Amino acid sequence: MPISAPLLLVEDDNSVRHTLSTFLDLEGYRVEAVSSTRAAMEKLLNGSYPIVISDIYLDERTGLDVLRAAKESNDQCRVILMSARGSMETVMAATRGGAFEYLAKPFELDDLLHAIQKAETEIEGAASLDRETDIDDLPETEMIGSSTKMIDIYKTLSQVAPTDASVLITGETGTGKELVARMIHTNSKRLVGPFVAVDCGSIASSLLEAELFGAMKGSYTGADRDRVGVFETANKGTVFLDEIGEIDPPFQLKLLRFLQEREIRPVGANRAKQVDVRVVAATNRDLQKMVDEGKFREDLWFRLNVVRIQLPPLRERRSDIPLLSHFFLRKYNERYDLNAVLTTSGQKLLEEQAWPGNVRQLQHLIERLVILAPAGRIDGEAVGEALAEAAGEEVAVTESLKDTEREQILKVLEATGNNKSRAAKVLGIERKTLYRKLERMGLQ
Ligand SMILES: Nc1ncnc2c1ncn2[C@@H]1O[C@H](COP(=O)(O)OP(=O)(O)OP(=O)(O)O)[C@@H](O)[C@H]1O
Ligand SMILES: [Mg+2]
Repeated sequence: MPISAPLLLVEDDNSVRHTLSTFLDLEGYRVEAVSSTRAAMEKLLNGSYPIVISDIYLDERTGLDVLRAAKESNDQCRVILMSARGSMETVMAATRGGAFEYLAKPFELDDLLHAIQKAETEIEGAASLDRETDIDDLPETEMIGSSTKMIDIYKTLSQVAPTDASVLITGETGTGKELVARMIHTNSKRLVGPFVAVDCGSIASSLLEAELFGAMKGSYTGADRDRVGVFETANKGTVFLDEIGEIDPPFQLKLLRFLQEREIRPVGANRAKQVDVRVVAATNRDLQKMVDEGKFREDLWFRLNVVRIQLPPLRERRSDIPLLSHFFLRKYNERYDLNAVLTTSGQKLLEEQAWPGNVRQLQHLIERLVILAPAGRIDGEAVGEALAEAAGEEVAVTESLKDTEREQILKVLEATGNNKSRAAKVLGIERKTLYRKLERMGLQ
């Protein structure tokens, strides 16, 4: 039985407002629908609503202001926010402000119905919520994506970041695992402490122990002074253990001990020290499978996997590709002081790719396109060419192609201020390959 009190719906888009009211009406709810924050505030001043449904981007004020007003008028009010342009910050602000649910547009009408029914159940149980009601203005975001999949990630982030729980981040290469680890840190109370990232895959396991736990002078060859380990450097902060799937079984055991005791004993030291760090780990391997195959300790896996954040590959959130492309377009236009524009045909082609390298691949491609855009226009043809080149097809090099290649290399070197590693990245080739090409061109 739908509750008898009216629901307040705030939505500036006429057709969406109409669709939602009609739907809720048919489901047996009474709905009062308004199209501006001002009308919403008036309603909230004069009446009490158990459930408010509001869009986020409305007029000069936002759904977060509606949320605040709704909570002020009735702190038991359940507010359902919806947006097609959600960001990590809006989800965080919504959570902090005590929003009940956050729906990424477009959503199924049934999703809204479920959210309302869940709110009704809670209201009946009269669980009293006592949350902060101050909401910041909407800030700039570093993490791009408003798709349902990303909004789900932000929801988990906003709940888990403020705690001290260990988090395991999984996802293909370039999906943003390190970025998420940083977001966990900057949205926790450890924010003022250090964030230290360690790539466990690139450090020999014999050195990993000294790297993480520290070592006393003379404890191994080459240790000519005491070395402070990462867990100690990062005291009161967060340690990000990247490529955790690469550590060998003896080290897995050492890490497990550390997570249980929160104590470090530097190599060669005879006393242990207590440290206070939060551990966030990441891997692009299937740890569950490694556990099943006996390659990764199950007890360690449990310790790390208190909360799991699984990042979707870019091809499963294609609706974010326009947002991401424009974000990177602006970034590199600013960095190189250029004004490249992305045409509709260019955009379309970007949306159709498989993106095995995910966001990182898209980012590098756009950087390259911005620098090389003829007359500042990135169209379908330019995107197609860059994609083909990035696919590493060493096409039969005719003289004119060689010229183009030479021009491209010079242009990129100029844009990057002669920074060869950066240039190689932009060109999508290895640094060694760039050196070889420069040598061949007599430019070394
Ligand atoms: N949602 C996003 N919004 C904006 N930038 C992103 C997003 N996700 C990833 N990036 C950018 O893409 C690049 C790759 O991200 P990151 O290094 O976090 O990936 P990763 O999952 O750690 O990859 P790998 O497994 O290869 O280490 C970074 O420059 C990062 O800032
Ligand atoms: Mg990474």
